[in-house]
Amino acid sequence: MNILIIYDSVFGNTEKVAQELYDTLKENNKVEIRKVDKMNTTMVKEIDLIILGSPTRGFSPTKPMTQFVKSLETDNDAMKVAIYDTRIDYMQIKSRLARNIVHKGGYANQKMAKVIKNKGIRVVEPLEAFYVIESEGPLKDGELKRAKDWIEKIQ
Ligand SMILES: Cc1cc2nc3c(=O)[nH]c(=O)nc-3n(C[C@H](O)[C@H](O)[C@H](O)COP(=O)(O)O)c2cc1C
Repeated sequence: MNILIIYDSVFGNTEKVAQELYDTLKENNKVEIRKVDKMNTTMVKEIDLIILGSPTRGFSPTKPMTQFVKSLETDNDAMKVAIYDTRIDYMQIKSRLARNIVHKGGYANQKMAKVIKNKGIRVVEPLEAFYVIESEGPLKDGELKRAKDWIEKIQ
C-alpha cells in the first residue's frame, strides 16, 4: 500500500505516535511521514491510506490540521483515511465540572472525521485516541504498543 502519515504536534506526543506508526508500516508498505505544516499541497495523489494525527486542543484539532483537513483532496476514490488524536484522559481530571466540559466538548478525531466524511472520502472506523498523562506528556504507558496494534489491524 501507498501510505501517507500526516500529523501535527505541539509537545511531541502526537509525533511519537506518528513515528511508531511509520516504523510499523514501513516493513510492508511504501510510507511517507510529514508534519502538517511541511505539506505543500492538499491534493494527495496515488495514496491508498492517509493517517491523520492531531492533538486535541480546545476540543478540536490544531489550526494547521483543521486547515489541511478542510482542503484535502484525492485522485483515488478508494482512498481511506484513518484518524487518531492525542488527549488527556478525562477521567483523570479531578474537578467534576472540568471533566464534564472536556468530555462534552468533544475531540479532534471526531471533528476531523466529520469534515472528511462530508467530502465523501472514506474514514476507517473506529477512530482512535491515545492518552497523555499531562498536557505536555508523556504518553501513558502502553500507548505506543496500542498504536502499533491499531495500525496493524487496519493495513
Ligand atoms: C491549550 C490546550 C488545550 C487543550 N485542550 C484539550 C481538550 O479540549 N481536550 C483534551 O482531552 N485535551 C486537551 N489538551 C491536552 C492536549 O490534548 C495534549 O497537550 C496533547 O495531546 C499533547 O500532544 P502533543 O504533544 O502532540 O502536542 C489541551 C492542551 C492544551 C495545551
